[in-house]
Amino acid sequence: MSTQNENRRLTAPDIRARKGGEPIVSLTSYHAHTARIVDAYCDLILVGDSLGMVMHGLETTVPVTLEMMILQGQAVMRGSKRALVVVDLPFGSYEASKEQAFASASRILKETGCGAIKIEGGRRLAETVSFLAERGVPVMGHVGLTPQAINTLGSFRAQGRDEMDWGPIEADARAVAEAGAFAIVLEAVAEPLARRITSQVSIPTIGIGASPACDGQILVLEDMLGLSPRVPKFVKRFGSLGPSIEVAVKNYAQEVRARTFPGAEHVYPMRQATIAKLPERGKGPSRA
Ligand code: KIV
Repeated sequence: MSTQNENRRLTAPDIRARKGGEPIVSLTSYHAHTARIVDAYCDLILVGDSLGMVMHGLETTVPVTLEMMILQGQAVMRGSKRALVVVDLPFGSYEASKEQAFASASRILKETGCGAIKIEGGRRLAETVSFLAERGVPVMGHVGLTPQAINTLGSFRAQGRDEMDWGPIEADARAVAEAGAFAIVLEAVAEPLARRITSQVSIPTIGIGASPACDGQILVLEDMLGLSPRVPKFVKRFGSLGPSIEVAVKNYAQEVRARTFPGAEHVYPMRQATIAKLPERGKGPSRA
């Protein structure tokens, strides 16, 4: 297992240049501690709006706010130093107009120091993508299953499993690429379609439930660590953090109840000189 050892932080153009090359390794992170670990192995860290579901227990990503994204984006920037950090624009912060999108994106870039933003949607957002890209905002697209559209989609289901549904998804991916996005997430897209889109667009595709042929892969960190109770079919659990945390918490509770924690090594003894000066019990001034 090798770690990344270059010091400079990767940029959106660096990721863009990886089209067809070595796979782009990406994970989500919302905290400084996990960002530090992920940063050593990943090219791209996404502060995804999935944080609403993962950190806050929300049913969907729809209620997530710009302030929530900025707070966690700042934490991830503090914890990382090499990966490109991309922060999601949450639902309601970019769809009304390209000007609204620029206002939200510029807040995210200024207040977090991250290197790019991500927005969900295809052809309908092409104009917004070029408006942002022309004004210094690197944009990552996101097509296929777009969770912010859950209220119109009805469920989180895979896209393009019937060939007759391919046309609009391909057109969405092409539109975002041609509008100037530096990369595009393909979420829950039927494998042959994801493969085909990857061969058609000039920018890297980052798959999540898509295809090994994508130019990179991404997963939600808590899902792949085995911390999330329910995960989609496309998640492989690379760890089992949930059971490990439960064992640790159970042991802690037992030790606190048995008064075996804290032990002598976890408390602060008095300094020797101070002990000598302490009055004998019962002879000194009382606190009462
Ligand atoms: O919000 C998120 O975590 C995402 C990934 C699933 C790509 O958008």
